[in-house]
Amino acid sequence: AAFNEPRTRDQVIKTLVDALQLLEYRGYDSAGIAVDYKDTNLVYKTVGEVSRLRELSQSTAPVAQRADGEVTIDTDLNERLQNYTGIAHTRWATHGTPSVVNSHPVPSSPTGDFLVVHNGIITNHEALRAELEASGHVFTGDTDTETIAKLFQHYYGQMCHRDGEPEFMSLTTAVMARLSGQYAILVKSSHYPDQLIAVKHKSPLVLGLSFPEDGSGKNKEYTAASLDPFDSQSTLSSSNATPQGAEDTAASDTPGPQTTTGEVVLQTTAAVGTRVACPSRATYYFSSDVVALTPFTTHTTYLEDGDVVAILPGGTFSLSHVSQRRMHELRVAMGFQDPADPLPPATPAPTRKFTQLALSVDEIKKGSHRTFMEKEIFEQPGAAQSALFSRVDSNQRRIRLGGIAEHMDELLQCRRVFLVGCGTSYHAGMMAETVIERLCGYSVTSVLASHFIDCLPHVGPGDMCVFISQSGSTADTIAALEYANKCDALTVGIVNTVGSSIYRQTDCGVHINAGYEASVCSTKAYTCQCVSLLMIALCIHFEQRLRQNQPVSDLYDEIFDGIITLPDALSEALDESKHIHEIAKKISAASSCLVLGRGFSYSVAREGALKIKEVSYIHAEGIAAGELKHGTLALVCDDIPLVFVAPCDRYMPKMQNAVAQCTARRTDKAKDGVVIITDDTAWVSAGFKSVIKTPRVHEMVQPLVSCVPLQLLALYLCEERGFDVDKPRNLAKSVTVE
Ligand code: G6P
Repeated sequence: AAFNEPRTRDQVIKTLVDALQLLEYRGYDSAGIAVDYKDTNLVYKTVGEVSRLRELSQSTAPVAQRADGEVTIDTDLNERLQNYTGIAHTRWATHGTPSVVNSHPVPSSPTGDFLVVHNGIITNHEALRAELEASGHVFTGDTDTETIAKLFQHYYGQMCHRDGEPEFMSLTTAVMARLSGQYAILVKSSHYPDQLIAVKHKSPLVLGLSFPEDGSGKNKEYTAASLDPFDSQSTLSSSNATPQGAEDTAASDTPGPQTTTGEVVLQTTAAVGTRVACPSRATYYFSSDVVALTPFTTHTTYLEDGDVVAILPGGTFSLSHVSQRRMHELRVAMGFQDPADPLPPATPAPTRKFTQLALSVDEIKKGSHRTFMEKEIFEQPGAAQSALFSRVDSNQRRIRLGGIAEHMDELLQCRRVFLVGCGTSYHAGMMAETVIERLCGYSVTSVLASHFIDCLPHVGPGDMCVFISQSGSTADTIAALEYANKCDALTVGIVNTVGSSIYRQTDCGVHINAGYEASVCSTKAYTCQCVSLLMIALCIHFEQRLRQNQPVSDLYDEIFDGIITLPDALSEALDESKHIHEIAKKISAASSCLVLGRGFSYSVAREGALKIKEVSYIHAEGIAAGELKHGTLALVCDDIPLVFVAPCDRYMPKMQNAVAQCTARRTDKAKDGVVIITDDTAWVSAGFKSVIKTPRVHEMVQPLVSCVPLQLLALYLCEERGFDVDKPRNLAKSVTVE
């Protein structure tokens, strides 16, 4: 963040730590911050949760972990400055074990000349490390991020030696030219006090603005610098900048604040290439996740790949776009690219739009719930309602999805559908596979994003590739999407996060409208993903029939009725929570458990098992009940609880066989260890004690209802075993590296 109004260092630290706490669901193995401190930076870093960072930074005799070791601060944290910049990070290790040295901000040198926080992965970090070591740089940690910090140091030295101290922006473009992979980075430097650089390349980065309220405190008075449109193309082509030069050197200092008391006046575009002074004392916030900005900003924009934002002395704001073509030219000039290589085509740098933040502070809090997972499970009826809201036309009994309407012709021409996702999102694809196939007549395959990249299936025009992702920023899913885009398949996004990478890189799509989901274990997003996929199937079927002048099928009507009654059915399923908690108590000591389902319930068994293993650490497998006799039966014994997803659908007789085959191999006469999730009371009459009742909906919608008891079972198993359900070990909410 860059603050351009008087604040104390303590206030700045508190704001950064508050924001970091909101990001903690994305990573919690270590955390750190850096803020201005005299002519250098004050750095606090710690292994563990953000709360430890807060303690460290708020202790009365603060000890800071600086780059050169631990020092006791001899200054007043209440020192008030006009301009402050600070960076903060919560880490989820990809390279290097969780440790203070590997946590961010990562320093470039013992004195911390450059400090970098980074989200993403530098794929050429090993080659860069070797090159920098050969030039005399000494690495202290194991992270790929350290190569970024060292590159800043390296080029700073080179450029100072050659031309005198470079602009921070020019130095940044030189560093960017050397990096491969994906990165959203923020950089501070003791050489550029009060300045801050933010760079985005393939990892998400949101910029938020906030403006101080007027003195009265009642009428909000906002001012925004004028961000005049700027022809970045002409700048690109006419730029005579040195290889290390930024593209926006022609930008002007054009303060043009609009001030009106009592209303928000914020021009909603920022054109690339602008450099504006900000007399309104705006504060700029950057984050890889908009949730961290919620308490602080009103307007945000998602930066594009190649964007560089610099906060310069006095709060001047500069937005540049370094295109692939410009990068290529820089590499050629620096000797790292063959001049004979084809020049990437010139691309116009789009205007960045600031939009009003939709997320409210209440939405990102736990409210009366103990954990986010519990809150989100119980939010499912409302979340499903939001997914359906304004899309269901009950009079015409049709679904209207604005996000795919314009691409309907192409959708109808498709022959094959690939449903691609990771983890829970993959299971949503599995759930919808048969429904889409039956309703729309496509050949449908659900596939793990990582497997899709490994196998690179032959896809192309005539294929619809649907990318399902809550976050919209899962690296495997993005890589699969990039491949599908390259193959000219029609790409469709099913995402929760508005403005995310997958939303922006797909041809069309549907927002699932689940609301903010913080728990690593995805629950309400899963439900809304399934609802959205079913809506797509209904929408396409309706259009197919309309164009053939045919009425919709009976199946269409049944599924339509199924999804509009879903919110009520989910509420009813949640009413079983106390009973499920009792069952969890009985089986919580198990070290292994099997979840079995067949047909439409197989995906539920897989998803339920994933939930259980993610948070309770009980080994759990989701088994296709038809496969039992081909291997899994060997595992069946009294010690292993069995959970059958056995609704009263067309597979019921076969499920009864599967249950009988298993119970015959157990001595557990009370049948406590056999849990049946069903809408059929016959199981109770048959003597089963642990029967979890669900309401009955259409068999193809039933998986959505059957999944709820498994989510609750996982939650309570975790709680009974004494773990933190929102922070499962070794797992992160958003996996932004492949
Ligand atoms: C991680 C999370 C899972 C999630 C998966 C896919 O592994 O821990 O809960 O299902 O990523 O995430 P996405 O955001 O793409 O749905």
